[in-house]
Amino acid sequence: MENKIINLGIFGFGVVGQGLYEVLNRTKGINARIKKICIKDPNKSRPIDSSYFTTDKNEILEDPTIDVVVELINDTEAAFEIVSKALRNGKAVVSASKRMIAENLPALYQLQAENKVPFLYEASSCASIPIIRNLEEYYDNDLLNAVEGICNGSTNYILTKIFEENLSFATALQQAQDLGFAETDPTLDIEGYDPKFKIVILLLHAFGTFVKPEEVFNFGIHHLNDFDIQFAKQRNCTIKLIAQCRRQNGNVFAYVLPHLIKEHNLLYDVYNEYNGILLESAFTDKQFFVGKGAGGTATGSAVLSDISALLYNYRYEYKKIKQNNQPSFTNDVKLKVYLRYKTPDQVDLAEFFNISEKYESTEWRYVVGTINLQKLREAGWLKNKDVNILVLE
Ligand SMILES: NC(=O)c1ccc[n+]([C@@H]2O[C@H](COP(=O)([O-])OP(=O)(O)OC[C@H]3O[C@@H](n4cnc5c(N)ncnc54)[C@H](OP(=O)(O)O)[C@@H]3O)[C@@H](O)[C@H]2O)c1
Repeated sequence: MENKIINLGIFGFGVVGQGLYEVLNRTKGINARIKKICIKDPNKSRPIDSSYFTTDKNEILEDPTIDVVVELINDTEAAFEIVSKALRNGKAVVSASKRMIAENLPALYQLQAENKVPFLYEASSCASIPIIRNLEEYYDNDLLNAVEGICNGSTNYILTKIFEENLSFATALQQAQDLGFAETDPTLDIEGYDPKFKIVILLLHAFGTFVKPEEVFNFGIHHLNDFDIQFAKQRNCTIKLIAQCRRQNGNVFAYVLPHLIKEHNLLYDVYNEYNGILLESAFTDKQFFVGKGAGGTATGSAVLSDISALLYNYRYEYKKIKQNNQPSFTNDVKLKVYLRYKTPDQVDLAEFFNISEKYESTEWRYVVGTINLQKLREAGWLKNKDVNILVLE
C-alpha cells in the first residue's frame, strides 16, 4: 500500500469513530481518507455531512475501491461478521472491539492466514498505549515473565475519584460515562469483563497461548464498599483493578482482580482514565508503559497508528505462536487475599490454605489468607454483594 492514498470504510461513528475522524483530520501527511461510514441508526443527527453515511454494510464490504475496513462498533456479533467478511474479501482490517477479538482469536488468526491480509487491533487493549506492537516486535523472544496492569480506563477513573476526591461510586460511574470512558454496558467495566478481554489478547501476544475468556477469572469493583476503602487507606494503600498474565512453573495463569496497591508500586500513580502496564522480563526486570486507556481521540490515535502501519505493510506475525513452546494455561495458583463479608455463612473459609489475620465487628468481618485461584473461580459465595475480595501484594 506504499505511496498510495488508502480509502477507509468505517463501521461505527460513536465515541471512537468520531475520535478517529478528529485525529485523522488533524494529522497532516497521512495518506488515508474516509470514503464511507456505516452506522446503525439512520435517523440520528451526525456532526458531519450526511453523504458519508450508510446503513448498508455492503456499501463498504463490496466496494473494491475501499482498501481498509475500520471496525468501531459496539455489537460483538455484528462486529465479528463484518471483520470476517472484510478479511474474506481481501481487505485489511483495523478494529478496537476487544470483546469480539478476545472471543474469536483462533478464528481471526486463521482468517488472516487463509486470506493473507492484515488485521490490526492495537486500540483494543490499552487504547493509546502501543502494547501489542511492542509485545510482537520488541519482546519477540520468550523471556517475558509477566504482563500486569491497569487496562480499564473507566474503573480506574472511578477508583481515582473515590480515593482522591471521596466521590460516591455512583457519581464517579456517571462521570466516567459522561466522559465516554465507560463501555455502552458499564457492567463490562465494573465487573472486570472488559480488562479480561484485553488480558486474553495480551496473553496471546506475550506468550503465544490461546485462552478462552471464560477460562480466565474476573472479579471487578462492583462489591467495593466504604469498609474496604478504609482498610486500604489504613494500610497507606490504594485499590486498583489489575489484569495480569504471568508465567509460573512452565505454565501461565491470568486473572482480573482488585488489588491493594502500595505507594512504591508504579501502578499507584496511574490516575483517572489512564492505563499502566508493567512488563517483567528475565533481564530487564520491570518496564512500565502508561497512557490514556479510554476516550475518543486517545483510542482514535491508536486506530490511526494501525492504519498508518498498514501503509508500510505491517502485520502481526504472532511470533510466539510460531515458536511452538507456548506455556499451558492454568488456574492452579495461590493468591494472598483480603476477604470481607457480613456473616460467617456467606463464605467458605475451609477453602483457604491458611488464614493470617481475622477481624470481626458488629457490621463487617474480614480475613487475610491464601486461597487457590481455581477455588475463587468456583466460589458461588463471591456473587453475594456482602462479600468482597482484594489481592494483597
Ligand atoms: N470508548 C472507548 O474509550 C473505547 C476504547 C477502546 C475500545 N473501544 C471499543 O470500540 C468499540 C466502539 O466503542 P464506542 O465507545 O465508540 O461505542 P459507541 O460510542 O457506543 O458507538 C458505537 C457505534 O457503533 C454503531 N453500530 C452499532 N451496531 C452497528 C452495526 N451493526 N452496523 C454499523 N454500525 C453499528 C453505532 O451506530 P449509531 O451511531 O447509529 O447508534 C455507533 O455509531 C467497542 O467495541 C469498544 O469496546 C472503546
